[in-house]
Amino acid sequence: MRRPKLEALKVDITTLEVDAIVNAANKSLLGGGGVDGAIHRKAGKGLLRECETLGGCETGDAKITRGYDLPAKHVIHAVGPRWSGGKKNEPELLASCYRRSLELAQEAGCESIAFPAISCGIYHFPHDEAVKIAVRTVIDTLPSTPAVQRVVFACFQDDMLALYRTELEAAKA
Ligand code: AR6
Repeated sequence: MRRPKLEALKVDITTLEVDAIVNAANKSLLGGGGVDGAIHRKAGKGLLRECETLGGCETGDAKITRGYDLPAKHVIHAVGPRWSGGKKNEPELLASCYRRSLELAQEAGCESIAFPAISCGIYHFPHDEAVKIAVRTVIDTLPSTPAVQRVVFACFQDDMLALYRTELEAAKA
């Protein structure tokens, strides 16, 4: 079997022509700021209408919709944990977001998926730990999601890009 390709890019995730982009959503799934706001703005009202039918989502879980006016075919809405010191299961909940997103991508037959740095903005998860969790969980989950052959970590800032690139290099060794 081919080895899936993992890469970190400095890019606005809403521009990516992939089978699925992951949204860093909140439990309501009805939009918000950050990457969530950007995704809803670009996808248009159809996305909000579909999200309204989903009944929200628990932290650590994810739900999938169509991509509407986005170049991506699907949006996987994952609800990351809000950082509150690390004693509230935040690392496990963050790992669960990456795992559940890949499982949904697999079920939908997605070959390519792009993740933002879930919980690293408004939710204040420490960046270096979040990046380690993201890369480790994706690498550990990919063997059980063989449809997924390309994973992009879409970064908005240079420091995030550097963290991902370091972690991806370390994982290769
Ligand atoms: N493309 C890629 N990355 C982006 C983009 C973009 N267009 N926009 C922001 N980022 P955040 P969270 C980065 O705050 O911390 C919302 O209100 C950003 O720089 O979007 O999980 C939701 O509704 C950061 O590195 O998500 C929730 O209430 C990363 O994406 C809450 O924010 C995530 O930042 C979720 O907070």
